[in-house]
Parts: sequence; C-alpha cells; structure tokens
Amino acid sequence: MKRLYKYIIKGGKPLHGEVEISGAKNAAVAIIPAAMLVDGVCRIENLPQISDTEKLLRILELMGAQVRYVSPGTVDIDCSGVSLSDRIFRYTRSIRASYYLIGSMLGRFGKARTTMPGGCNFGVRPIDQHIKGMKALGATIDIGKGLIQAESPEGRLKGARIYLDKVSVGATINVMIAAATAKGMTIIENVAREPHIVDLANFLNSMGADIRGAGTDVIKVRGVERLHGGSYSLIPDQIEAGTFMTAVAAAGGEVRLNNVIPRHLECISAKLREMGVAITEGDDYIVVRRDCPLERTNVKTLPYPGFPTDMQPQICVVLCLAAGTSVITEGVWDNRYQYVNELKKMGAEITVSGKTAVVEGVRSLMGAPVAARDLRAGAAMVVAGLCAEGTTVIEDVIYIERGYQNIVGKLRALGADIAAVSEPDEPGRMHQSSQESAC
Ligand code: EPZ
Repeated sequence: MKRLYKYIIKGGKPLHGEVEISGAKNAAVAIIPAAMLVDGVCRIENLPQISDTEKLLRILELMGAQVRYVSPGTVDIDCSGVSLSDRIFRYTRSIRASYYLIGSMLGRFGKARTTMPGGCNFGVRPIDQHIKGMKALGATIDIGKGLIQAESPEGRLKGARIYLDKVSVGATINVMIAAATAKGMTIIENVAREPHIVDLANFLNSMGADIRGAGTDVIKVRGVERLHGGSYSLIPDQIEAGTFMTAVAAAGGEVRLNNVIPRHLECISAKLREMGVAITEGDDYIVVRRDCPLERTNVKTLPYPGFPTDMQPQICVVLCLAAGTSVITEGVWDNRYQYVNELKKMGAEITVSGKTAVVEGVRSLMGAPVAARDLRAGAAMVVAGLCAEGTTVIEDVIYIERGYQNIVGKLRALGADIAAVSEPDEPGRMHQSSQESAC
C-alpha cells in the first residue's frame, strides 16, 4: 500500500460522466469487528478499500483470524482462532472505530483488552455511553494509562434495558454487537438511526442474530449462543456519494452516481435542490446536474435522518459559492470547523462563532496551498480545489484516504485535473493511475 503525500488540483473543470460509489466506510468499520462473533467463515462484499478497513482487518489478523481477499472488495474472514493480543494496540490507537472491539471482544470472550480509540479530532469525543452500555450488560470496566479492560464476571454478558443519554452512533452499534450473544433480551432506547446501524443489524441477523427495530428509536436484541458463517454485502457509502454530489454542485457539470440508495441521500439532495442543483433519482443511482448559479440556504447538522455532520465541511464549500449569506449550525460535534481557516486561504468569507458558521457567498474560490485537517475537512478541500480558479495543493491527504476509496482516480475519470504526489522520499513522482492512488 503506497502512502501518498499531497494532492494537486487544477480547478475550474466541470465534472461529467459516471462514478461507482463504494461500500459504506462506517458500516464496514462496525461489521469487521463484529465478524469476531461469527463461528465460521464470514464473507463481506462491497467492502471499501480504505486504510481504516485495512487496519481493522490487520487487527483481526493479529488476533489470529484468517483474512483472505477473494477479489477486490470481497473478503473472507475466519475468526475461529482469535484470542486477545496486545499486538493490536499500535493499530487500535490510530482509529476511532477500534472502540467496537470492546463490544465484539466482550461478546466473543466475555472480556476485552484494547486501547482508547484514535480518530479525527473534533474536540472532546467521550465514550461514556459505550461504557454505560457495557456495564449495564454486566461487564466491569477498568480504564487507565490509555487502556480499556473489561470483563464479564460470569463469562457471558447478560441482557439489560439501556437508555442512551445521547443519541450516539458508536454506542448504539457497540451495545448491539455486545448484546448479540448476551444471555437474554437487551432493549436499547434513544438509539441512533443511521443507515449503517440498520446495515450492522442486517449483517448480524444474516449470521443468526435476533435484532429488531434498527432504524427506529428502540432496538431489541434477543441474545443467541453463537452466530454462524454466511455472506453479506455492505450498503453504499452515503457520505462518499454526498461528497461527489457537492463536488458536482461546486464545480458544475452532470454526473451519474451508481450504486447508491437514493433514500439515504434525501437529506443531502433536499439541501442541494434548495440551492438550485438538479437531482434525479433512479432505483440505485442518482444524476446530479448544476448549470446555473447557486442560491443560499441554511444547514443544520443532526443525527439521521437530519443533515449529516459528516457532510458539513463539503456543503460549506458549496455555500461559499452561493449568492448571499448562508448559516451552518453544527448539531453533533463541539468543534468541526477546523477546515474554515484553510477555506479562508482560498478566499472564502466565513465567520465562526461556537457551533455556528456564517458564510458570505463569494464569486469564486482561488487555488492555494491548504491542509486536510481531518477526513471530511480534507474532502472539503478537494471539493474546493475542484471549483477554485488556479492550483490547489492539499497536504496531509492521509486523512482523506482513511475514508475515500480511490478518490483521485474516480475524480480523474470525471474529467477533474487532480493528481496525487508521493512521499518526499520519491520527490516529484506523480501517481496518475487510479490503482496507485488507492490507499
Ligand atoms: C460516528 O462517530 C462516525 N464514525 C462519525 O463519522 C460521525 O461524525 C458520527 O458518528 C456522527 O454521525 C464512525 O462511525 C466510525 P457519536 P461516533 O457517538 O460514533 C457524543 C466520519 O467522518 N457522545 O454518534 O464517535 C459525541 O461527543 C466520522 O466518517 C457522547 O457524549 O459519534 C457527539 O457529540 C467522523 N458520549 C455525539 O454524541 C458517548 O459515549 C455523537 O457522537 C458517545 C458520543
């Protein structure tokens, strides 16, 4: 796997053509750890080839799992031989989704040993609701020196009624995984309803779990002794699709996005339509067209089915190009405006106050050297670079490659002038092909 260093984008080219959306990152990063509960071989299809999924598969391998790529995007995982191992810590520290190992290890072994998770920095990212859920299921938890150790004194978790004080994607998923093989019934209230939560429940059910209500406010999990092998295909990535939608909205052109679930995109489509972007929907595709000036609007991020926080930086770029004043309110994270200073380097006029950003539309953005501050902030820089006049150089693209499969190759196929430049140890070497750009 080649680590890339920066992207160079010569902006101002409208996008045209078709793009295949990959499997959902945030479903994949839940389902890979959950595979630990499966007795037998579990085949996962439509798996995005991104660094976060690579790391989670590596974690399973270090624990003794057999991981075999059947074809690009399809992997067989056999967790028959897994056991706890401290060798995973260098990976668990670097990704957010490693917190799902707490639920999956407790479900599999009745005990867990991992590190506090890493991931993008949006201010404080507590996991108190995960811990509350595990304790309710009977686990004792010890957190110290960056380690999380959990144990179920009876060797198997026990079903319980759990009310989440905060609508949390991660806590909902973690408790669902842990409860799948607990003894008896677990009822989780005030849960998140994101599409990947339903996908995880469908995955677990297809392997023999008994989970109902995913996609609503209350999830009921009747614990089963064990899960059996099977195969499962992940849903398409809502946020990757949304990012391409904003790229077309910002740069102009017409693009058909294949392998999407239009219903999952409604919250994004609605806002783009308000801004004058034309969107038509088919069964598993949408067509996005923008050939007229953009209109201002306001955006508030909320848990699903609200507008996704993971699309907030990208839609901000589009709002920068709309005539008039738009207001963004971040309703999920404390600090998700770190990208604003980068956008200002490109001529954006944005004022941030607490969770609100006021965006004054400008005629155009101008290319500049900028950095990807986190995954979606980096995606926003790509969108900005595509519509800006002149050249944009994006550093720290390793963040972007945590979540977007072959973004450079996909954009080049749509006519964008974007290239990925390799690490400084190979100065000047340009990676033009999609394969070289994939991470
Ligand atoms: C998931 O993070 C996603 N990550 C994030 O996507 C996404 O931004 C977020 O959900 C919201 O949609 C993964 O799925 C790996 P939360 P998660 O628990 O689960 C508070 C991306 O770009 N909270 O739903 O960590 C928390 O501080 C990433 O792909 C608690 O207070 O988010 C936040 O304000 C970035 N206590 C809110 O809840 C807890 O125990 C929502 O967080 C847990 C969360």
